[in-house]
Amino acid sequence: QKFFTTKTDFKGKKVLITMGPTQEALDPVRYVSNHSSGKMGLALANAFMSRGADVFVVSGPISLKVNKDNFHWQDVKSAKEMYEASSKIHDQMDICVFAAAVADYAPAEIAPEKIKKSDSTLLLSLVKNVDIAAKLGAEKRPNQVHIGFALETENEAKNAQVKLGKKNFDMIVLNSMKESGAGFQVDTNKVHIFHASGLEVESDVAPKNQIANLIIDQIKNIPVWV
Ligand code: CTP
Ligand code: CA
Repeated sequence: QKFFTTKTDFKGKKVLITMGPTQEALDPVRYVSNHSSGKMGLALANAFMSRGADVFVVSGPISLKVNKDNFHWQDVKSAKEMYEASSKIHDQMDICVFAAAVADYAPAEIAPEKIKKSDSTLLLSLVKNVDIAAKLGAEKRPNQVHIGFALETENEAKNAQVKLGKKNFDMIVLNSMKESGAGFQVDTNKVHIFHASGLEVESDVAPKNQIANLIIDQIKNIPVWV
């Protein structure tokens, strides 16, 4: 029987977690973004913290209640800001978890003044954002662990495995949109984890904090860890 629930199996490990959405400004009052709540990222940050890790969070705008004192916490808005904050500390990290829903595109230019309503249609020109996970993945040291997330609506396993390779992840966590109780803005999740080694693990639908600990447990199956 366990009387002490506090595990310290990640004591002293430095962990970077990107989380939340990014907001890409269009003009002084508008932005392009997505529905990410940051719940899964925050659950991971809390779980790592309670297992003894030193957690560095780089978070897009979220509306969750957080005790930021528990972390090295940096708020950012755009993908560019998230990349800059993450790349600055990447080299010191033992584990990086890319849980942010980074906007893939940003407005080609930010209008200096509020865009006035005129024609019946408005065409927005968007340019591709920096891929934070891919760029830092290309710089990954052999003793660093990188974990990615994927949300797919079709060819889920195949697409997740392609991302695993492309971004040099050690493992990728696939969230299924099709599973009830999983995805954005909810407190539960169901994941399918693919390791670079070929190992696969599937979870049941469970609260995000339980899923977070299951994901963290899987780090122990990564060859560089043992
Ligand atoms: N990611 C990132 N920077 C980006 C886009 C994605 O760091 N600009 C990370 C996410 O945090 C996630 C992983 O890459 O860990 C996969 O994100 P996803 O949006 O599923 O993949 P994309 O490569 O953007 O492909 P697509 O959206 O076209 O499926
Ligand atoms: Ca994307």
